[in-house]
Order: sequence, then C-alpha cells, then structure tokens
Amino acid sequence: MPHANLQLPPLLRATTFRLALSYLGIFTVSAMALLALVSWSTSVFIEWQVQETVEAEATGLSEQYRARGIRGLAEVIAGRASEDLDRRAVYLLTGPGGVRIAGNLYGWPAEDIDSAGWIRFSIERMGSENFATEVLGRTYFLPDEHQLLVGRSLHEAKRVKSAINRALGWGLALTILLGIVGGYFTSRHMLQRVEAMNRTARRIIGGDMKSRMRISGTRDEFDQLSAGFNEMMDEIERLVESIRTVTDNVAHDLRTPLNRLRSRIDVALLSEADCDSLRRTLEETLAEADNILATFNAILTIANAESGQRLHSFEPLDPARLAEDVTELYEPLAEEKNVGLCCRAQAGLEVSGDRHLLFQALANMVDNAVKYTPEGGNVTVEVKQDDGRVTIAVADSGPGIPADQRSRVLERFVRLDSTRTTPGNGLGLSLVSAVSRLHGASLSLEDNQPGLRLVLRFPAS
Ligand SMILES: Nc1ncnc2c1ncn2[C@@H]1O[C@H](COP(=O)(O)OP(=O)(O)OP(=O)(O)O)[C@@H](O)[C@H]1O
Ligand SMILES: [Mg+2]
Repeated sequence: MPHANLQLPPLLRATTFRLALSYLGIFTVSAMALLALVSWSTSVFIEWQVQETVEAEATGLSEQYRARGIRGLAEVIAGRASEDLDRRAVYLLTGPGGVRIAGNLYGWPAEDIDSAGWIRFSIERMGSENFATEVLGRTYFLPDEHQLLVGRSLHEAKRVKSAINRALGWGLALTILLGIVGGYFTSRHMLQRVEAMNRTARRIIGGDMKSRMRISGTRDEFDQLSAGFNEMMDEIERLVESIRTVTDNVAHDLRTPLNRLRSRIDVALLSEADCDSLRRTLEETLAEADNILATFNAILTIANAESGQRLHSFEPLDPARLAEDVTELYEPLAEEKNVGLCCRAQAGLEVSGDRHLLFQALANMVDNAVKYTPEGGNVTVEVKQDDGRVTIAVADSGPGIPADQRSRVLERFVRLDSTRTTPGNGLGLSLVSAVSRLHGASLSLEDNQPGLRLVLRFPAS
C-alpha cells in the first residue's frame, strides 16, 4: 500500500501547513476554554445581579409591611405588579392555607426552596398574559401563616447570556477561519520558495553549474540557506574549474616533454649509435623522465593543498625550526653558486599548519631565491612576529619580479621570459600560493630593492 502522504496534495504535505494546523488546534482548544470561562462568569454575574435586585425589592416590601401591615403590603404588591410593564418582577402574597392575597402569580410554585429561601421555577403565564419564563425568587415567612415570594424573570438575563455566547461563538469561528486561511497562504508562500529552490537544484543537476538560488533580500531563513548554498556552489565551481585547469595544463605541459622523450628514444633506435652515445641518450631520457615526475608531483601537491583535505593534519609547528631546516637543505646549493644564505629566526613562535606542505612551500621560496640570484648575491630567510602575526619572509638580491608580473607568476606554469634559461616548470610559486591559502595566510611579493621579498603572514592565533 502506498504511503498515505503520497496521496495528499503538496500543500497539505507542507510542514508549515501541518505546523499551522497543529498550532490552530492548540489555539482553538485554549480559545474555547477561555470562552467557556467568560460565558460562565457572565452567567454567574447576571444571576448575582438578579439576586441583588430581588433582595433590594424584598427589603422595600418588608419596610412597607412593617409600616402598613399585611393589608398595606398587599396593596403595594398589587400596585407594583400592575406597574411592571416589562414583566420582569414576580410577586405572590399568600395567606393561611396558601390562599392568594396579591401578586401576579396564580399559585405557589411546586419547586423546592433551598436553605437560604431561594427558589427557581418556570411559569407559563404572568398576570393575565401568556409569558413563559424561568424565575428566580426569594420566599419569606410572615406572621399568621402569611408567605411572600419576590422574584425576577430570568428572560432578560438569558437573552444577554445567549447574545454574549453568540458573539463568542462567532469570534471563535472567525479565529479558526483566519487560522486556516493564514496557514494556507503562509504554507503556499513557503512551498513556492522551496519549489524555486528545487528547480534551481534540478537545473544544477542537469549541468547548469552557473545557476544560483534566488535571494529575496528579506534575510530570512530561506535567504540564509540560499546564500549558503550559493557560496557552496561558488566553491564547487571554483574547484571544478581548477581541476579542469589542472587537467588541461597537465595534458598540455606534459605533452611536450613526453614528445621530446619519445623522439629522443626514436632517434636513438634509428641511428646506429655506439654504446656510449646510447648511454648518453639514456641518461638524458632519465633526466627528462625525472623532470616529468617532478612536474607530476608538484601538480599533485598543489591539488592536495587546494582540496583542503590536509586541514585535519594541522599541528602546532615551530616556524624557526622549519626555516632553519630549509636553509640547511639549501646551504650546499647556495655555496656552490656562491650565494650567501642566512637565516634569522625568532625562537618561541608557533603556527598551526601542515608540516609537509609548509616545508615544501618554504623550500620553493628559498629555491627560487637561490636559483634566480646571480653569483655573489645574498638570500635571507627571516621569521618574526609582526603585529601579533607570525611572518616568514625570504628576501634575495636578484633581479626581482616587475610589479605588473607579480600576481601572474603565482599561476600554474607561468615563467618569466627573463628566466627561461634556468630549469623549472613554473609550479613552485603556485604551490606556495595554494599552501598559503590553505593556512589562511597572506602571500605578498614585495620589492627588496634590489631583488624580491616574498612574505607569508599567518593569521593571528
Ligand atoms: N626570487 C625570484 N627572483 C626573480 N624571479 C623570480 C623569483 N622567484 C620566481 N621568479 C619568477 O617567477 C616565475 C615562477 O616561479 P615558480 O617558482 O613558480 O616557477 P619556477 O621557479 O620557474 O619553476 P619551479 O619552481 O616549478 O621549478 C619564475 O619562472 C621566475 O621567472
Ligand atoms: Mg621555483
């Protein structure tokens, strides 16, 4: 059997609508409880008012009785009964044996009298007219077996009560109606926005990577969700683009050395070379293969740094140690080239990072400095704290990089014409840039006058 939800129209399946309905349910119950309380207290109040009136009237009559005796009382009652055009007051004065002396009631009601003397009964007629109503009355025993009943019709009170109840009922019905209509429109609005998001998601799944969620500008949850989603898509697009670039570059840049490798082997096979020249060809081929491998490794390391996967291998590192190790590694090369290499590192600092990638990045910076600085020049590696931020700088006295080329050299496979004769793939600074991004550090290329000064500034911890 299919799930019941599947058969409902989308609007009724909407979470908002169901939420609105359950709130409406709770609200209706509490509103009904409130209305019942209001209705009950109104009826209590109205009855209390009737009782007050009856008692006030009885007090008046008792004064008459005291002043004028039973005859006087009978006259007053007869007068009042005939004056009561609204037919609200009920009187009955009886003598011994229950004989009616005065009043607009024909006989004593059969209903029980409570301990306080109150009686509640219904009548069909009042005076000479048909008038069905309920009456609340008070009974008094007078001397000589006389009995007095003073009452009030509850007709008016009942009308007021039912008018109030009707108003409350309408109020409740209106509340429920507004709740349902409100729930319907809110849900429809929400559903439309979710549907728009679904459409965008489907467009993206269909291959339109440029598609983005619409942002209404109200900064509500949907806007926040859309903004987060759009940011995610920007990042995914950037990654896909960078993978595509890497793939293109790999294909393009490795084809040349691979072709060279192939033709070298081809020529060697075709020529009737002697053993020595074959050996030489093999050595050159080996160097070429090493170069291709180095390029591969560099590309993979850059991709690795850019993927962000290394974030979980971050650990606290001593930047001075790192700088000293790299300097030590390049000392023989610098010495061979007659370039002065020194390291000035402030001890006791700490950065959080990936040891392997940071070592590789710093090595690339020093490698460039030593490689591009002519004989007799100087290279300095410096580690210090600047404005609360750990800074690693590599400065050389070489030709430097013109200001307009500084951002370009960070791109993959970019090499300046002036240095084309030196070996290299143009990937060293790309790795430095990727590693610095991974660490949230900033990388700047400055003029060392003369030479280049590369500065890595780590975020303040
Ligand atoms: N210290 C420097 N002084 C002068 N030019 C530099 C310096 N560092 C880099 N460059 C220029 O920037 C270009 C890019 O440097 P990058 O390190 O990315 O590649 P590479 O050194 O040519 O090759 P690789 O580092 O992959 O072996 C270099 O080819 C060079 O032209
Ligand atoms: Mg380099």
